[in-house]
Amino acid sequence: LSLDLLGVIIVALMFLCLSAALAVPVSWYWRRRLSPRQPLRSDTDKARRMETFLRALPEGLFLSDREGRLLWCNSRARELLALDRTDFQLGGEVLTLVQRAAHSRQLEVHELSPASGARLQLRVLSQQQAGSDKHSVGGIVTDVAEQRHQEELYRHLIRNMWHELKTPLVIVSMHISKMRQLPNEDAETRAASLDVMESEVERLTNLTSNILLLSRLESEEPLHLEPVNIGALAEQEVISLLGLAEQKGIRVSIQSALQLPRIQADRGWLRQVFANLVGNAIKHCPSGTQVEVRLASENKDIAIEVADNGPGIPEDDLPHLFEKLYRIQKEGTRSTQGSGLGLSIVKKIVERHGGEITVKSKVDAGTTFVIRLPAGEGKLTN
Ligand SMILES: Nc1ncnc2c1ncn2[C@@H]1O[C@H](COP(=O)(O)OP(=O)(O)O)[C@@H](O)[C@H]1O
Ligand SMILES: [Mg+2]
Repeated sequence: LSLDLLGVIIVALMFLCLSAALAVPVSWYWRRRLSPRQPLRSDTDKARRMETFLRALPEGLFLSDREGRLLWCNSRARELLALDRTDFQLGGEVLTLVQRAAHSRQLEVHELSPASGARLQLRVLSQQQAGSDKHSVGGIVTDVAEQRHQEELYRHLIRNMWHELKTPLVIVSMHISKMRQLPNEDAETRAASLDVMESEVERLTNLTSNILLLSRLESEEPLHLEPVNIGALAEQEVISLLGLAEQKGIRVSIQSALQLPRIQADRGWLRQVFANLVGNAIKHCPSGTQVEVRLASENKDIAIEVADNGPGIPEDDLPHLFEKLYRIQKEGTRSTQGSGLGLSIVKKIVERHGGEITVKSKVDAGTTFVIRLPAGEGKLTN
């Protein structure tokens, strides 16, 4: 063999080895480029994790063809659209919307009102499948009953709030015009008008400050928690109301267990609870009523009761008592100075402290508000 021939053989062998070494990664690369539908193991894992996530969503999700045949859906979609496990065909309003989306190629939104009384929002969008001219339609079904209920409550509140703010303003402006036309010497009518105006301004001030308190509570403004001796705090609050109670001929007393655990609470907000409940009893009960504030320790809770033997609250009103602006209208009166926000403020404060409030009442027998607050650390006060 000549040296030249040996050289050619060696170069040819080297070329063969190199191509064999390159063949594996190159073929792997092209296989992956040419068939993207064949996912890698990690892609399969990702898809599986994604599917688990989609299945757990509180929204119903589905994928169908343009004729409404289901390709995939999570169990929430089956539940909300009342589809059996064996149902693979959409129908009714859902099908109409799927067909409309397939036609318009735009996001279609519609609110469904199924016979079950639920409120469902359906959003569907049609999309061309990758690498084909076929279209599939993706849908999201959301239960909007709670959201619609909250919106209705909010609209109702704004209407009532508007009314509550407007009425005193109208009354005050009426009295101003009346006073302008009064002869100077009519001091008696002038004084009567001033009294009405004063009381309406007081009502307005009370309402606006209560709106502010409620919005602070609802904005989740942080509480300033510290260990509080609740017995001492209740006593201070009762003492500060004794003058008012005496003016109305109402007796207020306090009964507290000797040793109550200190609770983690916001002193300022907790004062509002006693001021509102004892204040209500003084405001809404007639002369001669007895009001008692009772504090006890029960298991790991503090039990607080504010009880009176006043006129009581009709049974029909009890479920609404803690609603914003709810007042019990006494016939022929424009109620008292109340804003109707006091009890909703109390409820919110109690809930923000991890507690709960209930009411027991009987007409002509009296009313008892019962609060349970968690005692937290359980350290004993004196
Ligand atoms: N101790 C009570 N006895 C009788 N009625 C009460 C008592 N506490 C509250 N109420 C009734 O509940 C309504 C709502 O109370 P609240 O939210 O504090 O509003 P208000 O600003 O009118 O006091 C009051 O208008 C009143 O009719
Ligand atoms: Mg009140």
